[in-house]
Amino acid sequence: MKMSNYLSVAAVAMLATSLVPAEEVTHVQKIADKLCSVCHGQDGNSISSNYPKIAGQQAGYLEAQLLAFRDRTRSDKDAQDVMWGWTRSLTNQDIKDLAAYYASQRPTAGETKSEALMQKGAAIFQQGMTDKGVPACAACHGAEAAGSGVAPRLAGQHDHYLVRQLKVFRSMERPAAVAMHAIVTNLSDQDIVALAAYLQAK
Ligand code: HEC
Ligand code: HEC
Repeated sequence: MKMSNYLSVAAVAMLATSLVPAEEVTHVQKIADKLCSVCHGQDGNSISSNYPKIAGQQAGYLEAQLLAFRDRTRSDKDAQDVMWGWTRSLTNQDIKDLAAYYASQRPTAGETKSEALMQKGAAIFQQGMTDKGVPACAACHGAEAAGSGVAPRLAGQHDHYLVRQLKVFRSMERPAAVAMHAIVTNLSDQDIVALAAYLQAK
């Protein structure tokens, strides 16, 4: 390509950019940047495994959780210590908009763990454990763990966060909408670690 062609390509690109109005920063993006990104990451893919990824999460689930933090019905210790405060001043509309915003972000893949651990987790997730009365997790969370409606996406979630949640369900510290307590009550700590390893890598 000759130099003049390069110039004309650049000129067209510049013209095109100048025709697009400066992207409006929406109210929900302002809240996300100011209040949420420090822990959950700019696009909802948190880096630290202490904070859950919320990118690509089901909108219905996100909305239900944000309401539960604000209305103080999700009451495990981390919820009380951290999320109750951050959701205090959100309106129902803010919550709906934040849920739609994060649901539309693309979730990143998580790290893999030992093959043996992931295989054990896969078996429990896909088939359950009949001897322990544990149902297949895939029945509600989907074979790809992508979730649906109020059943959350689990694929790619930080293992550390998943382990913590399964334990707070088991101990009844996090009162769940459906019977997650009954579902996880017979899982051992090792089962929980295997499930989290499998799901993080998915
Ligand atoms: C100081 C860090 C911090 C900030 C700021 C923060 N969060 Fe959180 N968030 C957390 C932690 C920690 C949890 C896990 C709580 C638990 O274990 O119950 C969490 C949980 C969540 C969950 C539940 C995820 C799930 O998978 O169940 C959602 C949704 C969420 N936060 C959204 C937000 C939004 C929206 C904002 C901004 C208004 C925000 N958070 C601000 C730390 C933070
Ligand atoms: C009957 C349907 C159902 C089955 C079976 C089920 N779950 Fe769930 N699960 C849910 C629902 C609904 C929620 C959301 C609970 C709430 O609103 O607090 C949930 C929440 C979770 C969460 C919390 C995620 C987060 O982001 O905080 C984890 C982790 C989880 N389930 C793992 C599992 C595992 C592992 C199994 C299999 C041993 C399983 N679930 C089986 C319906 C189910």
